Amino acid sequence: MTILRNATVFVDGQLRKTDIAFDEKIRAIGSNLSGDEQIDCSGRLILPGGIDVHVHARDLNQSHKEDWASLGRAAVSGGVTTVCAMPNTDPPLDRPEIVRAYRERAASARVNAKIYGGITRDNIGRLEELARDVDAFKLYLGETTGNLVITDRKLHREIFKGIAQTGKLLAVHAQRGGPPKTVTRHEADDIHYVLDLAAAHETKLHLVHVTTRRGVEAIVEAKRSKVDVTLETCPQYLFFTERDREQRGAWLKMNPPLATEEDREFLWWALAEGLIDIVATDHAPHTQEEKSVGYERAPAGVPGVEFMLVLLLNAVNAQKLSLKRLVEVCCANPAKRFGLPTGELSVGRDADITVIDMNIARTITRESVRSKCGWSPYEGLRVQGWPVMTFVKGRAVYP
Ligand code: DOR
Ligand code: ZN
Repeated sequence: MTILRNATVFVDGQLRKTDIAFDEKIRAIGSNLSGDEQIDCSGRLILPGGIDVHVHARDLNQSHKEDWASLGRAAVSGGVTTVCAMPNTDPPLDRPEIVRAYRERAASARVNAKIYGGITRDNIGRLEELARDVDAFKLYLGETTGNLVITDRKLHREIFKGIAQTGKLLAVHAQRGGPPKTVTRHEADDIHYVLDLAAAHETKLHLVHVTTRRGVEAIVEAKRSKVDVTLETCPQYLFFTERDREQRGAWLKMNPPLATEEDREFLWWALAEGLIDIVATDHAPHTQEEKSVGYERAPAGVPGVEFMLVLLLNAVNAQKLSLKRLVEVCCANPAKRFGLPTGELSVGRDADITVIDMNIARTITRESVRSKCGWSPYEGLRVQGWPVMTFVKGRAVYP
């Protein structure tokens, strides 16, 4: 049994000075707990490990960009203890055999791994079978990295109906047409299209990487009429805009593209107000070489899993965001939505824990990046509030 002593622990929505005892599960929270391994955490903050429900772990034929081992190291160094990996791998995760092989690769990583199944024209009739091996499904409505696009409206209806029957969550990249070069002005229209499908078929829906004010508003409105939907945005849309992309080119090329300053400010407001359910990174590692070939040819996507928590902890330090909201969007809400036994510090939950020093200030540098891609869009940014220790199911995985 491990005991973390004298820390400030985030329990039941509040900060409490207490000890916490765990093996693979949290066993006790209280004063003067005893156990064989005791770690003094005076002056530190203890939070549930972060859950990043949107990462591209690559591996298989793209292990030069990232693999499960490097992704795991990156995640836990940033206090993220669970990741949900997207299916646009090479080969794609659209068959039970390939999902099982991918899960085996993930088992050697130090992070908890959840896996989305991909939907293709070929497997639409067999979603029930694939559902046994995946944690959720992902649907791409428009062209993006990989080969998992379905544009046919009739097939969309079939898919929403079929996924509803499996009872699984359907994550949707709601962007019809090819990736636009600038702000997705039609994001809200595409989101309306998807919300109508979810309402008609009673599909459990998760909308990934929403970037615009109108997109958020469409989802908030749908929730009022009882559509079962959650809404995700990503740090890159909170930190950058189309202006930054004009300056930095391919390094900030992503899909959907960066939006306007007005959208960015709205996202911060919506985050603080509780309109955004989940923050996830869309961690999309591409190598520096791949990103260096000019805007048109470079692949879309930026890495981010290891800096999600620090970017938001810095916002807490700057009083731009409450710690309560941070824990909701990075831990509690994703756990609830994906049905995971983690995401909060309470007895019986998995011991996925990160210990934070809110006083450490450090500049994000290329040298410090742990993702195999070896760069970060946040290089040069000085942030305060860093994980100093991380446990996954009770096992010390960082440092
Ligand atoms: O920018 C992106 N990169 N958007 C996506 O939808 C896919 C991702 C990737 O896999 O690189
Ligand atoms: Zn993605």
